[in-house]
Amino acid sequence: MSAPAASIDVAFTPAEIRPTRVAVIIDVLRATSTIVTALGAGYRRVLCTASVEDARRLREPGRLLAGERHCRPIEGFDYGNSPGAFDEARGEDLVLCTTNGTPAILSALSAADEVLIGSLLNLDALVERIPTGEDVTMVCAGTGGRFALEDGYAAGRIVALLEGSWTDAARAAERLASAYGDTYEPLDQSADAAVLRETDQTADIEFCAQESISALVPEISSAGSQVAVASVGLGAEAARAGVGIGLEGEEAVNR
Ligand code: MLT
Repeated sequence: MSAPAASIDVAFTPAEIRPTRVAVIIDVLRATSTIVTALGAGYRRVLCTASVEDARRLREPGRLLAGERHCRPIEGFDYGNSPGAFDEARGEDLVLCTTNGTPAILSALSAADEVLIGSLLNLDALVERIPTGEDVTMVCAGTGGRFALEDGYAAGRIVALLEGSWTDAARAAERLASAYGDTYEPLDQSADAAVLRETDQTADIEFCAQESISALVPEISSAGSQVAVASVGLGAEAARAGVGIGLEGEEAVNR
């Protein structure tokens, strides 16, 4: 008897994720686009936190802080969450704290054996990197726990290129994506893009709509329950080395 076909699924919000072999986290506007861009600019690691306090605790020489609340830069941080700002690395690590994207990355770690970072920027490389024959879930970060058009669109673009047994959610995402003739329109129509326009960050929409300009596929390693580390080709041990918040983080680091 042949093995059942691998499941290709989409969680339209992080709350929908079920146990899976591989999770691909998608926050097109803008957290996962920022991670891909920052690693491409030369940062060795992106340390992702859900809380601003945790991000601040990670500050040390060689680490820059980036992130947003309500799409605006956080007080005292070095950067906001505009991927276009990362044209060069000014330190070894970037600490990133965003409203939806970085919490989604952290929560996926408990549901998947392998967590990858997806965006339109690294679409082709990502599809190449996703192991064939494994259960894969595209996890949309969404906005405030609700569906975000740009993430659903990107999930559908990825699904279209993956062979396996598509769930109903995967089919719906693929149909959604196929309704658009280019990458810019679904991003531009989204509620998140409207907030970026209101906050004078319109250029980020065009930036994040670029398709397959990066060959990097960031992998996520856990450094305790409060920090997830995005890196490329480092391996879990090196990725989490020297990173930890509180007892739990230290234990994870020393394990
Ligand atoms: C998030 O994580 O909520 C987003 O990336 C918000 C943003 O556009 O900065």
